[in-house]
Amino acid sequence: MERYTSTQYQAKKPNANGIIEYSEGENNVWRDLYQAQIGLVNRHMAKKFVEGLAIIDLPKQRIPQCGEVSERLQKITGWQVVPVPALIAYDRFFSMLANKQFPAASFIRTQEDFWYVKEPDIFHEIFGHGPLLTLPQITQFSQKLGELALSVDSSFHVWLARIYWFTVEFGMIRQGDDIVPLGSGLASSPSELLHAVESKDVLLRPFELIEVLRTPYRIDIKQPIYYVLEDLDQLQSITDSDIISAIKYAQSLGLKTAHPELKKAS
Ligand SMILES: [Fe+2]
Repeated sequence: MERYTSTQYQAKKPNANGIIEYSEGENNVWRDLYQAQIGLVNRHMAKKFVEGLAIIDLPKQRIPQCGEVSERLQKITGWQVVPVPALIAYDRFFSMLANKQFPAASFIRTQEDFWYVKEPDIFHEIFGHGPLLTLPQITQFSQKLGELALSVDSSFHVWLARIYWFTVEFGMIRQGDDIVPLGSGLASSPSELLHAVESKDVLLRPFELIEVLRTPYRIDIKQPIYYVLEDLDQLQSITDSDIISAIKYAQSLGLKTAHPELKKAS
């Protein structure tokens, strides 16, 4: 969903049959990522995420096609995963969400970016987001944010994107006595997942809408702060609230700069 000024990666285009062809090397990156990540995900990610991963049952040896993932999701939440270029503007992103379509960048990271890639690649999109797209609380939340974005001035989009970033992308969630990673950006990055659960420098804060709206983020560093949902039902209370009034209030207070890492954020 993020917007970039530059990327070394090129979108891969589907052929006449709608299939994106990947090389053996690219499929091997998927295989190696899957292998590197599956143990960590099973150990650390939220139970709901792990269950979702089992439900979509992704191939382990090759990059899946969006079509085959969509076929499964259609039966569960009615969503589709649709290939898009690496660069996508907020308008298009939110309008796809409103239409139950998840935009998926089609390229896969290179071996050099194996442990951490700032651009969302197909591993992030499918392995990170696919399991979440089996959860109705997540898909309804995403769809409602998309609908809201379409109904307001585009100057609100960057604020709405922060809500998405600190939930679906990099949210944590309470699970019994623990706080565990939920977001797709955590699930798809071997190094960021460990950073989130092990680093003593990480700040964990309860998800409070105004706080989240006032927190700028960077896409090119491991996150210094994560917000924690009480449970998945909290997502509905967020979209049931008057988000636009909350944004206006957050605007009047200004962005937070207290955390040293956040000072560098734009
Ligand atoms: Fe993402």
